[in-house]
Amino acid sequence: MSTVLVLGGTGTTGSRVTAFLRARGATARVATRSPSGPGQVRFDWTDPATHAPALDGATAVYLVAPIGEAEPAPLVAPFLDAARTAGVRRVVLLSSSAVPDADDGVGALPALVRGAVGESTVLRPSWFMQNLVGDHVLAAGIREHGEIVTATGDGRVGFVDAGDIAAVAGHALLDAEPHPSEHLITGPEALSYADAAAVLTDVTGSPVRHRAVTAEERTARFAASGIPDDFAALLAALDVAIAGGSEDRVTDTVARVTGRAPRTLREVATEALSPAGGEIRPGRAGA
Ligand SMILES: NC(=O)c1ccc[n+]([C@@H]2O[C@H](COP(=O)([O-])OP(=O)(O)OC[C@H]3O[C@@H](n4cnc5c(N)ncnc54)[C@H](OP(=O)(O)O)[C@@H]3O)[C@@H](O)[C@H]2O)c1
Repeated sequence: MSTVLVLGGTGTTGSRVTAFLRARGATARVATRSPSGPGQVRFDWTDPATHAPALDGATAVYLVAPIGEAEPAPLVAPFLDAARTAGVRRVVLLSSSAVPDADDGVGALPALVRGAVGESTVLRPSWFMQNLVGDHVLAAGIREHGEIVTATGDGRVGFVDAGDIAAVAGHALLDAEPHPSEHLITGPEALSYADAAAVLTDVTGSPVRHRAVTAEERTARFAASGIPDDFAALLAALDVAIAGGSEDRVTDTVARVTGRAPRTLREVATEALSPAGGEIRPGRAGA
């Protein structure tokens, strides 16, 4: 049975990948800068001395690259060398539907991973539903002001549940047959942020609205939330791309890979608002 090192194992997708793998009897080793118990191992992208010990005995890796790092390749390449040396045969890389392949930046990672191990799959999910119901800056806006602020205009997005991404990742990590080199992953429908706000209004019983702003205002809001200026501008540019229709699509990947339908925003939001979840508490409109 596989031993999978789950990078970002305490994060939105990695924690769900870990749960998926363990439910199927695989060994999932959670990589974290702050291990707090069995099944966790210290791993820090910026401390290469932590890489080989984390990889010891692993046969596969779920790879979440260093978050917010504009040029991650210099950190990821030596890690992949160490993975190959440790006997890792399969890597599933979390990328994004919004990140095209490129010679540098985060767009360089798919080619790097493909060149490093025999079996690799790049996940290209659309925007996570959890951005709206978790700790993300958008969810904070809903909690505090009852509004979602974006520069996406009327553009639509195939929002996807992080649990569905994790299920696709889990299959790609465990299935006997290697998966295709890429999976473009969306939820079941493409929604504008105004559509999403209407769903959240319905589910929560409190008004949630979408407020469209300019790319400049969106950049400033990201920066004010602590995101570095250049990354804030990049995120705002992704909003502008959405306004132009870049994410207006749905794929059958979740159903094809997992054998079940992808979850709707309504289902995910309803679960998050249950007493056990309780992730968002919208403020009053206009608050
Ligand atoms: N949000 C979206 O809509 C969306 C859409 C498509 C793609 N994506 C991609 O998803 C990725 C983020 O994945 P996620 O949401 O699953 O993760 P996440 O919830 O943002 O969690 C980040 C993880 O990275 C770990 N981490 C942070 N700094 C680290 C370091 N220096 N060394 C080792 N680990 C470190 C954290 O672990 P510890 O704190 O425990 O160390 C944590 O588990 C991004 O690359 C983004 O491009 C996001």
